[in-house]
Amino acid sequence: MEWKPDRLHDKPIYKQIVEYIEYRIFNGEYPPGSLLPSERILAKELNVNRSTVVTAYEELRASGLIISKQGSGTRVSPFLAENSKERVPNWNRYVVGGSLLPNIPLIRRILKEALNKDLIDLATGELSPDLFPQAQFQQIIKTGNFNFHLGYENPQGNFQLRETIANHVKKYKNIDATASSILITSGAQQALHLIVQCLLKPGDSIAIEDPSYCYSLPIFKSVGLKVHLLPVDQNGVNPDDLLTLHKKHRLRMIFLNPTFQNPTGVSLHPERRKKILDIAAKYGIPIIEDDPYTLTAFEQEPFPTLKSMDPYGIVLYISSLSKIVSSGLRIGWITGPQRVINRLSDAKQQIDFGHSIFSQWIANEFLTSPYFHEHINQLVLELKKRRDAMVSSIKNYLHDHVEFFIPKGGIHMWCKMKTPIHEEKLLETALNYGVIFVPGSALGTKKGYVRFTFGRAYEDTIEEAIFKFSEAFYNLANKT
Ligand SMILES: Cc1ncc(COP(=O)(O)O)c(C=O)c1O
Repeated sequence: MEWKPDRLHDKPIYKQIVEYIEYRIFNGEYPPGSLLPSERILAKELNVNRSTVVTAYEELRASGLIISKQGSGTRVSPFLAENSKERVPNWNRYVVGGSLLPNIPLIRRILKEALNKDLIDLATGELSPDLFPQAQFQQIIKTGNFNFHLGYENPQGNFQLRETIANHVKKYKNIDATASSILITSGAQQALHLIVQCLLKPGDSIAIEDPSYCYSLPIFKSVGLKVHLLPVDQNGVNPDDLLTLHKKHRLRMIFLNPTFQNPTGVSLHPERRKKILDIAAKYGIPIIEDDPYTLTAFEQEPFPTLKSMDPYGIVLYISSLSKIVSSGLRIGWITGPQRVINRLSDAKQQIDFGHSIFSQWIANEFLTSPYFHEHINQLVLELKKRRDAMVSSIKNYLHDHVEFFIPKGGIHMWCKMKTPIHEEKLLETALNYGVIFVPGSALGTKKGYVRFTFGRAYEDTIEEAIFKFSEAFYNLANKT
């Protein structure tokens, strides 16, 4: 076989083998029913590990293109023949054809690796299991009185939960909302999706922060938006940059995560908040305030939410219980003008007929119980301890190789590696040392950054995680 996989290509070798065999099948070189080389022989011919060919054949089998039978080897599916009554669709063409783009390969890799329980996880953007209110939820389930009907819920969300959230946002974020101006969503993520899909159209220009959680999301490009970047400094985004960007591109929407931002941990300064609101109001640009972290403030009161400072009605406010109670509960919400909420509720009905009544019920019970306040107080203490453990471990093991901002809330730390280093190679090396993190290039355009999520690691593993990371870093830095 003349063809060989390209080892320098970004595409994994097994994938190249899959595509090569697919090509030969559809080209007629491997007709339906024909015998393929055994895994061992193909591995030898291609000069790759047998396990790589095993993975490639597994994928081809899963897509129905080949079949393997004990004793008679691996063959191209006979159902691919023209005169066969059964036809196997080419799933690979379908999976690249949909309108929602896949996650970028780096994110897919992190999501896959993070499932490995042997790694210390500084990558997944959620709380560690011991920070969830497990016992309180068990208690609610045991003693609570779930008497809702089991049919479809109102697609806008359960009325009682919406009333509770209206009280919650008033109490904790000084936001005026009513049950009818709130839509319950499947996390903040679905709120972002609904906004992008229902309120914007292909070709619209939007601004997001650089770096940001939004940067990692394919949804904006999936719907054909033009994404412009607002650099984040220690006080958040700069209103002057926003003005310049708007004058150049006529922005249709601005997405901000102004408090304890993911990944930088910084909060938009109140003066900048005011200026940004004024600019947005002057030019009539809606602001999406994505605010999952405000309640995690470690020291003083967090800055006021943009929504609470908005006299114009230009802010759509998103939040969720993911970073403070449970990410698995999938409870998020949007509050904004009635017409917008109605439009998004209609879309939510089309997508999933409304949110699960069971998770809405338990969220309502928890938010209205004394547990909630106690839990937040405890959570903040725990997160602060982890932040402190991470700061001192970084100082101990990485010394002045790293520059970082000490966040006053949230769950993430954003670190700049002062020694030039290839972040993705650093990830590969760190995985071998037993720790996973997010390379900065998944979250923004700046080179040489890494995101550590201190909220995800158990307190007693943080030092070990940073030690392992530092070993990986020194190992790689010494080679370059
Ligand atoms: C800023 C920000 N927005 C939204 C989300 C989505 O969270 P969820 O859908 O779990 O509420 C995340 C998750 O990491 C986030 O960091």
